[in-house]
Amino acid sequence: MTSGSLEDIIAHTKAYGFLFPSSEIYGGIQAVYDYGPWGAALKERVKTLWMDTMLKHHTKIVGLDAAIFMHPKVWEASGHLEQFDDLFIDSKESQKRYRVDHMVEEYIQTHAVSEDFREKWQRAFAGGDLDQILHFLKEEAILEVQEKGNATNWTAIRRMNLMFPTQLGAQAGNQDTAYLRPETAQGIYVNFLQTQKSLRLSLPFGIAQIGKAFRNELIARQFIFRMREFEQMEMQFFVPPDEEKTWFSFWKEARRQWYVALGIPEKNLQLMPHEKLAHYASDAVDIVYDFPFGFKEVEGIHARGNFDLSQHERASSKKIRYFDSRRKTSYIPHVVESSVGLDRLCLMILCHAFVRENVQGKERVYLRFPPYLAPVQVAIFPLVAKEGLPERAQRLRDELKYEFAVFYEEAASIGKRYTRQDLIGTPYCVTIDHETLADEKVTLRDRDNMKQERVPISKIKDILKVHFSTQSFWNSLPA
Ligand code: GAP
Repeated sequence: MTSGSLEDIIAHTKAYGFLFPSSEIYGGIQAVYDYGPWGAALKERVKTLWMDTMLKHHTKIVGLDAAIFMHPKVWEASGHLEQFDDLFIDSKESQKRYRVDHMVEEYIQTHAVSEDFREKWQRAFAGGDLDQILHFLKEEAILEVQEKGNATNWTAIRRMNLMFPTQLGAQAGNQDTAYLRPETAQGIYVNFLQTQKSLRLSLPFGIAQIGKAFRNELIARQFIFRMREFEQMEMQFFVPPDEEKTWFSFWKEARRQWYVALGIPEKNLQLMPHEKLAHYASDAVDIVYDFPFGFKEVEGIHARGNFDLSQHERASSKKIRYFDSRRKTSYIPHVVESSVGLDRLCLMILCHAFVRENVQGKERVYLRFPPYLAPVQVAIFPLVAKEGLPERAQRLRDELKYEFAVFYEEAASIGKRYTRQDLIGTPYCVTIDHETLADEKVTLRDRDNMKQERVPISKIKDILKVHFSTQSFWNSLPA
C-alpha cells in the first residue's frame, strides 16, 4: 500500500471532481482554486466537524460570522499594515523568485548548521535591514545552494505587504483604502465586548468563526497549501491574564488530539515551537503534518497576550475591558488562539486518504476518508437498468436521501460503478438485484476491504447510522 505524491493528489482531485484550477478555460489564475462538487462536500463536512468541536464538544465557545471588510484602522491597530510582509529575492539567471525566510528555513533543515548560524540569522531577520540580510545570505553561501551553484546574479531583497487593498464606494484616495482581511481573528477581537455583554459570558470563553481570508502570497507552488484566497477556522479563547500559560498548554494538547481522532497517525504529526514569534505572539506552536513535500504547518496555536485587544482599545479610544465579578476588577483579557487553514486541512485529509495498492496484480486507488467526512456516504445501484430494479433502488434512495449523502447510478457495469465510488472515497455501496425483489435483501459493499454481504433492506438505515456516527470521534477527544 503506498500513498500519493503531490502530483498524484493534484491529478486525482481534478479528475474526480474535488478541485479545479480557478478559471481554467482562461489559463487559470495562480494560487486560486475552485472546489468541485466532491471537494465542496468534503470541505462542508470538515467545517461542520470543526464547528461542532468548538461549540458542542468544548462547551464554553460561541460562534460568530464577521464581515470580510473591516474599518481600515483595524489593520493599523493589528500591526498588519506595518508588519505583515514577506521578503523576497529573484535570481536573474533562472528567473525564479524565493521567499527569503523559506529559503533559510529549508537550508537549516537540510544542513547541519551551528547555533551561531541560527542566532545570526534570527538577529538579521528580526532587525529587518534588507542589506544586512542579503549580506548574511551571501556570506553563508545560501543563494548558491538554492540555484545549485549556477547563479551569481541576484536582485536586491524586496519587501511586500501581503494584504490586498481595495476601494469601498466611489471615492478614491489613500484614506479610503480598505483591505480584504488577511485573517479572520480581527473580526473576533473587535466583537469581543459586544459578544461578552450580549450573551453575559464569563471568562474563560472562546469565540469561533470560519471565513475567507486573502493574502497576496509571493510564491505559490504547493496547490491548496498556499493560496491567495483561502479559508480559516479560528477560535480565540479569552482568559484572565494569569491563566494564559495554562490555557496555551491545554489548547496545544486538545488540538493535537483532534488530529489523532481524525485518524492521523502520531508519527505524521509534530508540534513545532516557532523560532521567530510573530509581532503579536508571546508563545506559539505549529501543528505540522507530514505532507508529500515534508512536515508543514496546518494549524497555529498562539498565546497572544492582550496585544490585540489593547491595540484596538488604544486605536479606537473605546474601553475593551472585562469586569471580573469574582476578582472584583476590570482588565483586558489575554487570548489563546487556535487557527487552522481549512484548505490545508482538506489537503492533509486528501493526502492521508489517498491509497494505492496492488490487488491480485492490479492497481487499485481509493480515498480512505473517515466515513463521516466522505462527500458521498452511500451509493445505490440497481444491478441492471430494467426489470423493476431501478424503481426498487430509487425507492431506497428516497428513504435514505434526507439522512445520508446518497449517490444514485444506473449506467455501466457494477464493477466500474464500484471503482468510481472508490475513487471518490464512498464508504458503502448498496446494490439491488433480481433476488432483492423476492427476498428484500441487498448487497452492501465496504470500500476498504471490498467485502460484500447480503443484508435485509429494512436494516440498511440502522446499519448506516452506526457506520456514520461521529460518537467514537467525540469519545476519543479530551473533555
Ligand atoms: N490569526 C493567526 C493567523 O492567521 P497564520 O499562521 O498566519 O496565523 C493560520 O495562519 C493558518 O492559516 C495557518 O496555519 C495555515 O493553515 C492557514 N494559512 C495561512 N496562510 C495561508 C495561505 N496562503 N493559504 C492557505 N492557508 C493559509
